[in-house]
Amino acid sequence: MTKIPTITLNDSLEVPAVGYGTWAMKRPQFLQALAAGYRLFDSARGYGNEAELGQAIAQSDVPRAEMIITTKVHPPNNGYESTLQDFQASLKALDLEYVDLYLIHWPNPAQDRYVETWRAMIKLQADGLVRSIGVCNFTPAYLRRLIDETGVVPSINQIERHPWFPNLAQTACDAQLGIVTQAWSPLGSGAAFLTDPTLRAIAQQHGTTTAQVVLRWLLQRGSLPLPRSQDPWRMRQNLDVFAFDLTEAELTQIEGLDTGRRLEGQDPETTNYL
Ligand code: A2P
Repeated sequence: MTKIPTITLNDSLEVPAVGYGTWAMKRPQFLQALAAGYRLFDSARGYGNEAELGQAIAQSDVPRAEMIITTKVHPPNNGYESTLQDFQASLKALDLEYVDLYLIHWPNPAQDRYVETWRAMIKLQADGLVRSIGVCNFTPAYLRRLIDETGVVPSINQIERHPWFPNLAQTACDAQLGIVTQAWSPLGSGAAFLTDPTLRAIAQQHGTTTAQVVLRWLLQRGSLPLPRSQDPWRMRQNLDVFAFDLTEAELTQIEGLDTGRRLEGQDPETTNYL
């Protein structure tokens, strides 16, 4: 079983460099992912699978202390009191006493309540119910507002990031602010880029798959990928990304595949889940 290296966040929480993306996954996949070696599970209230994840955590032989469990505020519930309530609902569904990483799922600019959500998360961390707090889909302006109004820098910004949308400017901003970037849809949700000739040539050079090349590119650029898979063999393959190094030229070639388009057009400045 692959031992996954860890990264230390700005609040000193250590997290595995690769996590398991849980959207649309259920208990059998969680148990298989634990067996494959995953220790970070990226869940969300909005995925509707916290209870299934909680059952897998309870059923597994892996000690709770070795796991990093992430969940996220349900976007319509942004706001101070509503976040505190949403968090209690998450804890209950997961059947846990604490969550390792709690993230704002979407800024939802039309609501303009993400600063209040953030204040509730600061309280949850102070109360010892959450070990680390972060955000998803935040732009440089949203990050700066959070920091200016509360003085608390998120530990993580989880954003769409893959070869067709490398999101380089946001990644650079995160790094400048001391925020670790996690990549959602790192494999483009199984997008056609996995058969791209450039990626194929690089993969052939290293004796790997194109998916492994993409995950390795993210890691070498300091981002933490959250690949999803229902297949135990691909789950393992996606953790086996620490035994080869891409060259700087290869990393740049991968970034050259940028289409400038998000897979589903989910621009955080215009997307609102209400
Ligand atoms: P499967 O579940 O059959 O493995 P993302 O992580 O970007 O959301 O992408 C998930 C999609 O990528 C799923 O359709 C998954 O299919 C597929 N996938 C996951 N790992 C690999 C891999 N190593 N090679 C090819 N496809 C993969």
